[in-house]
Amino acid sequence: MTETLIVDPAMPDSLAITRAAERLLSGGLVAFPTETVYGLGALALRSECVRRIFTAKGRPSHNPVIAHVAEIGQARELVRAWPDAAQRLAEAFWPGPLTLVLPRAAHVPPEVTAGAETVAVRIPAHPVALALLRAVRQPVAAPSANRSTGISPTSARHVLKTLQGRIDMVLDGGPCPGGIESTVVSIGPAGNVRILRPGLVTGEELEAILGVKVAGPSPASAGAPLPSPGLLERHYAPDVPLVLAAADGYQEVSQLLRGGQKVGWIAFEGTAPDGLSREVVLRALPMDPEAYASQIYAVLHELETSGVGAIVAARLPEGDRWLALRDRLRRAATPG
Ligand code: TXA
Ligand code: MG
Repeated sequence: MTETLIVDPAMPDSLAITRAAERLLSGGLVAFPTETVYGLGALALRSECVRRIFTAKGRPSHNPVIAHVAEIGQARELVRAWPDAAQRLAEAFWPGPLTLVLPRAAHVPPEVTAGAETVAVRIPAHPVALALLRAVRQPVAAPSANRSTGISPTSARHVLKTLQGRIDMVLDGGPCPGGIESTVVSIGPAGNVRILRPGLVTGEELEAILGVKVAGPSPASAGAPLPSPGLLERHYAPDVPLVLAAADGYQEVSQLLRGGQKVGWIAFEGTAPDGLSREVVLRALPMDPEAYASQIYAVLHELETSGVGAIVAARLPEGDRWLALRDRLRRAATPG
């Protein structure tokens, strides 16, 4: 059984937080809201607890998890080096949707790092996540709270969709405001910063703080070791095929309709014509990357269970601010 505790996202009830912290401290798995997506937490410094995350998610053991902490000092205890770039990024973006990958300290369990020499750390900006981390007083390992390769959850209902009965508790703090995952960057010994996974913090925002060019995410090439295993090509995928449209999606939707399928269409507001077939489930999203991000996973979760045979997503604009969203939709889409 998975227990659900409802909490006020702005002012979480301390009793609920205490109970969730106790679950974690007794070795349990607790899902909780962050400003990006829901995380599935376990004590990061206890191997057997972290292993339970991998079992519940069906996650391959070669994919490392992020250690979440409440303060910069706790993050520094998990790493062997803290270059100036780390300090500057932490001060600028924490608490917030940026994850730093740094050389790991010796006591970080191999389950967290998937055997690698680096560890990913982040201070989340959500009041519920922060309250929980403060109550636990130690690092909490947390990947997104979904079965591996599926769409990340932005509500407690999304978490329960695939993890009901597989985890001990979910703190239901309502929808996550950010809606897609954090930006993951690695920081080398010389302080060189590279984006491993684009996310809510853009490359331009990182460059503005660092004053230097930041290397972008490299496409995962077959056979090469993955710089970030989360860059596995198929990821964040709904249960029904997702088609990326060449333009607004009307052509692709029409073609699928002619094939006799019910179709989900993720369009931009004001672009779909009136009088669409009843076989189309239309969801119109704003032409603004932050607003789009906050809704896209909820829309994908909804459409994958709406009885459509396929989902068509309108082509996203170019530019740095849409990069993370282009990345997620590309990975969610059916190859070919
Ligand atoms: O916004 C987020 O980052 C959410 C919330 C819960 O914090 N978490 C999340 O975790 O998205 P997950 O496990 O779904 O994705 C973490 C990503 C993966 O791509 C993983 O491969 C990468 O971070 N990662 C973790 N540790 C790493 C390491 N030591 N080196 C390289 N990549 C790492
Ligand atoms: Mg994930």
